[in-house]
Amino acid sequence: MDFTVETATDAVVDSFRETEDQRLREILESLTRHLHAFVTDIKPTLEEWEAAIGFLTAVGRKCDDSRQEFVLLSDILGVSMIVETMNGAEEGTESTVLGPFHMTASPRRELGDSIDLVGTGRPCVVSGQVLSADGTPLPGAELDVWQCDEQGFYDVQQPDAQPPGNGRGLFRTDDEGRFWFRSVVPSHYPIPTDGPVGRLLEATGRHPYRPAHVHFIVSAAGHRPVTTHAFVAGSPYIGSDAVFAVKRSLITDFTESYDEQAAAHFGVATPFTHARFDVVLTPEVVLAPEAEASQ
Ligand code: BEZ
Ligand code: FE
Repeated sequence: MDFTVETATDAVVDSFRETEDQRLREILESLTRHLHAFVTDIKPTLEEWEAAIGFLTAVGRKCDDSRQEFVLLSDILGVSMIVETMNGAEEGTESTVLGPFHMTASPRRELGDSIDLVGTGRPCVVSGQVLSADGTPLPGAELDVWQCDEQGFYDVQQPDAQPPGNGRGLFRTDDEGRFWFRSVVPSHYPIPTDGPVGRLLEATGRHPYRPAHVHFIVSAAGHRPVTTHAFVAGSPYIGSDAVFAVKRSLITDFTESYDEQAAAHFGVATPFTHARFDVVLTPEVVLAPEAEASQ
């Protein structure tokens, strides 16, 4: 049969009919249908298609062990957030993007430790409780925390100015599921723009900024882990995150405190900034053996 624009989709879909892995076949069929619909809609010239291939090639070339330009592309197109949200738990603390800066292991720290190893900023205490969906506190829950500094840089972006592990910590909740650590208030910052994704943002008049936030991955036995952020309420760009990752429920007050008793408890001087961020995890669904077999 002749290959025509009209018969192309059926021909390519049919070419996958022998695929043993049914999920792979389903994905390739859908990809073919959507991709064909896309090109027949935009009707690219040969030069435009070449430019598109050139752009994707440049995205690939920009990737290395410490830079993932494809993830950045997925982020600025809103795809990361769609996938994250579709896979997130239906109740409990909402999830948001992982981002590219969770690339080194966070050092183990004790409750109350400071993750600000430079010690130049105004002290900020982040505290909260990790709870199960029914409100039961979760002792021994693990919190992996990472954030940028007051100038908007992560440790890995400034190896000459920040010690490794600055702004990072791995904490375990106490007997009542509580956690607290000291830090500085993070700044808003631009996502990396020195690659093809940055050029795309510029060509489309989009800014590259993310509102200030602290990253968390929180896990506890028998519960689904959550990857999330505490966003600093009132931060610039809170309404226009370059990667569409803000969810209203995650916006957190970082308030100025003159409470001497609290300051003494947390080991800081007044005034200090205090943010309270509770995390609610969803219990893992344990399938009965017969239900598992029929899956
Ligand atoms: C981040 O929050 O670290 C981040 C997320 C997406 C793209 C770039 C940075
Ligand atoms: Fe970040």
